[in-house]
Amino acid sequence: MTYYGTEKQQRLQRQSDEAQPKIAATPGLVQAGRFFSVDNFDLIDWAFVDERLAQDGVFGFRMMSATCIEDIRLKLGPSYRVDVWSVCRADRTAATRACTAILEDDIPGGLTRVNLTADPGDDAVRAVQTCMAENGIAPFSGAMLAGNIVPAVTIALADAQGHVVATAHANIPFNTHSKHSGTAWVGLIAVAAQQRGKGLGRLVNALAVRAAFETLGADEVVEFVHADNIISRRMIEACSLRLVPGILCGLATPIVDARFTT
Ligand SMILES: CC(C)(COP(=O)(O)OP(=O)(O)OC[C@H]1O[C@@H](n2cnc3c(N)ncnc32)[C@H](O)[C@@H]1OP(=O)(O)O)[C@@H](O)C(=O)NCCC(=O)NCCS
Repeated sequence: MTYYGTEKQQRLQRQSDEAQPKIAATPGLVQAGRFFSVDNFDLIDWAFVDERLAQDGVFGFRMMSATCIEDIRLKLGPSYRVDVWSVCRADRTAATRACTAILEDDIPGGLTRVNLTADPGDDAVRAVQTCMAENGIAPFSGAMLAGNIVPAVTIALADAQGHVVATAHANIPFNTHSKHSGTAWVGLIAVAAQQRGKGLGRLVNALAVRAAFETLGADEVVEFVHADNIISRRMIEACSLRLVPGILCGLATPIVDARFTT
């Protein structure tokens, strides 16, 4: 079984995996892993947005201007909320310099890198999904994490008992029609509560950012951070990513629902 989380999370993971041929072929669609998402306001078919919101209870808008997000709020009306995340970006030169410095230090004692295979049903993939879910991150399917849906690298560290205690992920979510097609996304950063504040978040984030350039061949990297997540923002900035003013990612949900992810 490659899906993990609540019934809703698993249903949406499956839907995202199965929709990849459509997402790759359709200008404006993005492989966001956990729900349908678009990256071009002008290409949005609102009937599709309305239908998916009614069925899925969540819809993503990536790399939108703040004005577009306001237009989306107006279009959706009072039954829906649009939670927003700021976009931070780095190019290869700045990120390589910052991440190389972070990665000069050894992995802290007692922790080891977990080697994930291409098998989405692997126990290690399940342990990564569990770590994400336990730390407030809505997980991806095993196939997404294993890089079987879009090009992707998943990072994990385990403690001496073999428990996964830190995760990160890089992938290429934008299709070839997108102006962001050379951009990798890094996210799904989770550190177990008892291991926080020791630089592990910065470390796995740096490993994922480096993999985005070296393994996935990206031209630039973006990460998304919510305004209430100061620690995540510092972690991201330590890897040289900087806020892109006026550009946001939005997640529409019914007003009564909790925020979909951290
Ligand atoms: C965000 C998270 C991954 C950070 O992991 P971590 O291992 O505790 O972070 P680090 O120890 O590497 O610290 C990262 C930065 O935050 C700072 N920081 C860490 N804990 C802090 C705290 N309690 N208060 C203020 N700053 C703090 C560190 O000093 C560091 O900044 P610096 O490089 O400027 O010194 C972790 O808190 C977590 O799993 N949170 C829940 C899931 C989440 O929010 N994920 C990110 C969304 S994608």
